[in-house]
Amino acid sequence: MRTDTVDHPLAAALLTTMRDARTDNSAFRTALRDLTRILIYEALRDAPAQRFEISTPVAVTQGARLAQPPLLVPVLRAGLGMVDAAAELIPDARVGFVGIARDEQTHQPVPYMESLPDDLAGLPVYVLDPMLATGGSMRHTLELLAARGATDITAICVVAAPEGVAALAASGHPVRLVTAAVDEGLNENAYIVPGLGDAGDRQFGPR
Ligand code: URA
Repeated sequence: MRTDTVDHPLAAALLTTMRDARTDNSAFRTALRDLTRILIYEALRDAPAQRFEISTPVAVTQGARLAQPPLLVPVLRAGLGMVDAAAELIPDARVGFVGIARDEQTHQPVPYMESLPDDLAGLPVYVLDPMLATGGSMRHTLELLAARGATDITAICVVAAPEGVAALAASGHPVRLVTAAVDEGLNENAYIVPGLGDAGDRQFGPR
């Protein structure tokens, strides 16, 4: 499985703000939005462009646009904080939703909602979830997408644990990971270490 870890000083500074326990909810959301832009730039680096003719005030020239805007799929609740930034950069993108809670005892994903197009064949899909921890939620999302025919899936995650990366690789699904960091591992509560805590609580406050 291809993993692209973004190596950029601006990404590192934004990730530092998000990791810092003193960062309040508002500043965390702002940093997540800005870092999402960088991750989306990286994810689109090799995306095919469609050429077309435009006129500048001076001459006719070739313009370019994304040949196929991806479907954006934020995983609720934490992925909500990534969708606006991604959609601003890719205004033609459609947006689907997957809702997955986490059982705090078993650490297993508990799906509660899905709203996706029926046919994803031939369509690139970007799954937006800040944290790739055990990989359980992402694997569930991959199953939903693959069942609809998706074969070109990119997971956009702020922080990944090696356990989550391994789970994706073992899933057998065609998926690429774009992330700002692969951290040390998981603690006994399946939180990423050093990580940044609960990405939903850090954005929206504790439940
Ligand atoms: N989900 C989070 O929000 N944070 C973690 O560290 C792991 C899963």
